[in-house]
Amino acid sequence: MSRRGVEQVTNGHCPPVLVPRLLFMPPTSHALETWPDAAHGGEPAARELPGYDAFGAHPVDAQQLFWFRWIVGHQVSFVLWRAMCDVVWRHPDDSPGERELELLTACVDGYSAMLLYSSTVPRAHYHAHTRVRMVLQHPSFSGTWAPDYRPVRKLFRGKLPWQHDCAALEEAVARNGVTHDHIAGHLVPDGRSLLQQSAGAPGVTVSREKEDLYDNFFLTIRRPVSHVELVSQLESRLEELATDLTHNGLYPNVGGRHHPVVSGDSDELMKPLVTGVLEVLDRATRLVSETRLEEVRS
Ligand code: HEM
Repeated sequence: MSRRGVEQVTNGHCPPVLVPRLLFMPPTSHALETWPDAAHGGEPAARELPGYDAFGAHPVDAQQLFWFRWIVGHQVSFVLWRAMCDVVWRHPDDSPGERELELLTACVDGYSAMLLYSSTVPRAHYHAHTRVRMVLQHPSFSGTWAPDYRPVRKLFRGKLPWQHDCAALEEAVARNGVTHDHIAGHLVPDGRSLLQQSAGAPGVTVSREKEDLYDNFFLTIRRPVSHVELVSQLESRLEELATDLTHNGLYPNVGGRHHPVVSGDSDELMKPLVTGVLEVLDRATRLVSETRLEEVRS
């Protein structure tokens, strides 16, 4: 199999084999490296985005596909949080410029799209496989352990003084809160996270060990990374998502059934995400690519 993780099968009938790859991220306290490759910035080429169906036609290998979606949906979120973190870091009090606000808005929406994409796993499969693997990694495994999320938590909590002046950003943050609550309630109807079910409680300081366990679960390695490398990891995952969605649809055919996440009763705020996963992620990728993040902390 190729190292790219996507084995394109050309006869049109076989499903693509989707295998998550390692994600390389800088330690949260480190700026992105300025390597010679960063000089090759330039305008990213326009991408042709394929369309995809909400309901997939071909039966899928559920183990392989939903593992891929769970890992890669998280990895893409880590990159988007990291891109946002560099703006937030630079503007603790004063408002970022228009371009940076646009970047933040696009990344928040990109993260919402990844929440939806990851949570397309059927509920029974999630409880039998995905959640079991997380519990084995640690009994109170939690999103609060995500190293790249902590620096942008304030934004998601509406705590940055300038964020309320940007209507688009406000709407994206609201959409994100609705999406996280919706997918959490969809997959775990009793609403209790692993952290809440175990002895741990939210708000406890996160140890380095827990951060490492979290990174390790999502195949994430911390080491120096340049802006160009960060963007290229985002772009290659966008391509993989496009391959997946065009073949399998957002809601794959699992043994003849589909498991929609967003239904007629769902919040209106989420509905555009159903058809817009690739578009939203493409926009975030373009803006991250165009921003010289390595300069932000200089
Ligand atoms: C699709 C993947 C998911 C991602 C990327 C994700 C991400 C996160 C993040 C970053 C936090 C920290 C929020 C903060 O500190 O303010 C969090 C907290 C939380 N998440 Fe999720 N989440 C996901 C799925 C779920 C699911 C399926 C549930 C179902 C119970 C859930 C329930 C919770 C709860 C209750 C919290 C509060 C803290 C805790 O008890 O762990 N999330 N999530």
